[in-house]
Amino acid sequence: MSGTFDKSVIIVTGAVGGIGSATARLLVEAGARVVLTDVVRDGGAELADELSAHGDVSFTPADLTDEDAVRAVVAHALDRFGRLDGAFNNAGISQAGTPLVDLASADFEKVLRINTVSVFHCLKHQMAAMTEGGSIVNTSSGLGVMGALNQAGYIASKHAVCGLTRAAAVEGAERGIRVNALLPGTVRTQMQVAAHGSAASPAVLERTRQLHLLGRMGEPEEIGYLARWLLSDEASFVTGSLLPVEGGLLAGRRL
Ligand SMILES: NC(=O)c1ccc[n+]([C@@H]2O[C@H](COP(=O)([O-])OP(=O)(O)OC[C@H]3O[C@@H](n4cnc5c(N)ncnc54)[C@H](O)[C@@H]3O)[C@@H](O)[C@H]2O)c1
Repeated sequence: MSGTFDKSVIIVTGAVGGIGSATARLLVEAGARVVLTDVVRDGGAELADELSAHGDVSFTPADLTDEDAVRAVVAHALDRFGRLDGAFNNAGISQAGTPLVDLASADFEKVLRINTVSVFHCLKHQMAAMTEGGSIVNTSSGLGVMGALNQAGYIASKHAVCGLTRAAAVEGAERGIRVNALLPGTVRTQMQVAAHGSAASPAVLERTRQLHLLGRMGEPEEIGYLARWLLSDEASFVTGSLLPVEGGLLAGRRL
């Protein structure tokens, strides 16, 4: 993949996390210049240092729920690299498992603010900056197109990411900007651990085996490969798509 991106400039959000850092690594290896951003500062500079050995990388922290902070991330990309060609809008949080009837409004609003409003902020400022076209990938979830127990806030937030993706794809098409969403199944990251416990625990292994036809959880790189492809010109006829990358989670059950 080396050289695929020919110095294209790509923003990766949630870059310190599992899927974000794996994807950033793949993009740098393929020749992209990458702006890493995350609300978490710890680890961001270290990741940028590590990836800088392979290409041009910069880290700028931001809480994406703050529109001014998002504007500043895009301005940072333009100041540092002079253009913006792509973005992987991947930052997000999980929701504690709570029945809808017990879910506090504040908790519902919090997950929508981080998982959905942040993506709106990103799309708005990234699309305005992509004056020569581009490609944007948003991370939704398998739960962006299906229901599940005790996850009403997360499910609503990720369905909304799918809607935003399609809305942005329609408006972006005239500007030469493709916009797609990924629907990951369970992936081995901190978020998975926070939501369900150690990836090695028998309960988690059995749960992932039951849920995914392939019988296991995904690795962050397995999401990153598809994100990288969508961001590349190889996906030049793909826009407005909601692409599953979920080991068969959505396809059916082994009953
Ligand atoms: N891990 C899974 O099983 C799974 C499944 C489906 C979808 N996803 C989605 O994948 C994306 C990446 O998650 P991950 O699994 O790598 O988890 P992760 O917790 O490792 O990474 C998420 C990152 O987002 C950052 N973030 C959170 N709030 C932010 C904010 N307000 N501003 C900026 N950054 C913020 C976090 O600091 C973290 O680094 C998320 O959108 C998540 O919903 C994950």
